Amino acid sequence: MTSTPDVSESAQDEQDQQPDPIDEPTAIILYGGTGDLAKRMVLPAIYELYTRGLLPKQFRLIGNGRGDVSHENFQQHIHDVLTEFADAPDEEQYAEFAKNVKFAGGGFREDNPGSLLDVIKEAEDELGTDVALIHYMAIPPQAFEATTKAVKAHDLAKNAKAVYEKPYGESLQSFHELDDLVHSVFEEEQVYRIDHFLGKEATQNLYLTRFANRLFGDVWCRDSIAQVQIDVPETLDVSDRADFYDATGAMLDMLVTHLFQVAAEVALEPPISMADEDVQNARESVIAAFRPLSPDEVVLGQYRSYTDIEGVPDDSQTETFVAARLWVDTDRWQGVPFLLRTGKMLATSAQRVSLILKPADGPLKHVPANANAIVFDLKGNGAIDVQLTVKKPGPDAVPAASATSLMLQNVAEGAMAPYTSLIHDVLSGNRMLFTSSAGLQSAFEAFQPMLTDARPKIELYDDGSWGPQAAEDLTNGVGWLIEHKVSPSIG
Ligand code: BG6
Repeated sequence: MTSTPDVSESAQDEQDQQPDPIDEPTAIILYGGTGDLAKRMVLPAIYELYTRGLLPKQFRLIGNGRGDVSHENFQQHIHDVLTEFADAPDEEQYAEFAKNVKFAGGGFREDNPGSLLDVIKEAEDELGTDVALIHYMAIPPQAFEATTKAVKAHDLAKNAKAVYEKPYGESLQSFHELDDLVHSVFEEEQVYRIDHFLGKEATQNLYLTRFANRLFGDVWCRDSIAQVQIDVPETLDVSDRADFYDATGAMLDMLVTHLFQVAAEVALEPPISMADEDVQNARESVIAAFRPLSPDEVVLGQYRSYTDIEGVPDDSQTETFVAARLWVDTDRWQGVPFLLRTGKMLATSAQRVSLILKPADGPLKHVPANANAIVFDLKGNGAIDVQLTVKKPGPDAVPAASATSLMLQNVAEGAMAPYTSLIHDVLSGNRMLFTSSAGLQSAFEAFQPMLTDARPKIELYDDGSWGPQAAEDLTNGVGWLIEHKVSPSIG
């Protein structure tokens, strides 16, 4: 017996005929194709997707830039980049990949598209006119506006997605201006604002382990947590990208972007389900509860040799260090400080989120902060450490600090680098790990006091140190966990 398909079935049929987004012939246009970000992050990620068989079968990678680079030179450039920043590619496999790689020089502007339109036309001739476009803006934020306008002027927003790097705006006002422009060209669903900290395995574990394990989930609130530390010290300097850095500074480069997003991953309320939109909404909506930063709870620093870098003015007031005490005004987090810190040229490199617990009820009133904490290590493949107070083996009941560590790479094979995983999400149309307009608006609202005259003065710190002493004082005597092998007890 045959039945007449109902409306929903025919709609389903239609859907089934659409190519899976990942199978759709696609051209990735990489603006800033020969730049630093493309070199370190984007090109190695795209090639990793290729070697894993996760790029569409029919694809083009089109580098764009002002210079006049030949297709062959760009192909060689990517080969060099992979050799320097990833694993040297297998020659045979790379030769196949390179056949899909083109370069469109001469820049890309409203009044002068350079050679990009011709190269896209060529791709359409070869792959079909319905080729999907991904506009990947690996360019300095100052260039977002002109490139977005050029996409509109040359009618390239149809069947397209746009990926924006950070910072997406520098203040509430410039965020709105950019976002309004972007929304005049693309629908929100086409826009992917990338924050690669959200693509890290350990960051995603901040909520997954919490919702899966009572051991974590039940303590995830002010009753049990004394303070949260989000600590990203870095030993590296910024001499190889002085122009970008001096115009950006640590607050825009790291605080209002990566660290705020990670704070939101910690602070979010349980979503009604683990569906992508629900988790994204939960993360983005808690940012609206971030209390605007109080400048007297923020410490800014600059490492001493910063102004020796070529291109940095002697009187630069750009901060290379920031530490801030952030408050999240939800019932769950009343009274719990979120301490955020990051800086360049510091004593060590680490990326750690520490939930420092209050001592358990009972006779042991004082337990060292670093022996009563859950620590998520975001670096590399990620790890989760449970830092505990246990009995020191021996005849007496003497407490001792100890820790156990779960390396996430040991859980299962197949972990991808954050950029690889996020670009894969762009291809497949999954926006869960990207920031939303509403979330970024809230982030800039919380950041706004730092753009007023009340912004704290920059304190100089020694290269290779832990930054200004005042940052230590923000921790209410607990100290930054990573610096203190044995921290003072808190209760
Ligand atoms: C980038 C910042 O977004 O993140 C850099 O611009 C920072 O200043 C980098 O060093 C750290 O990220 P990761 O995880 O790739 O080391």
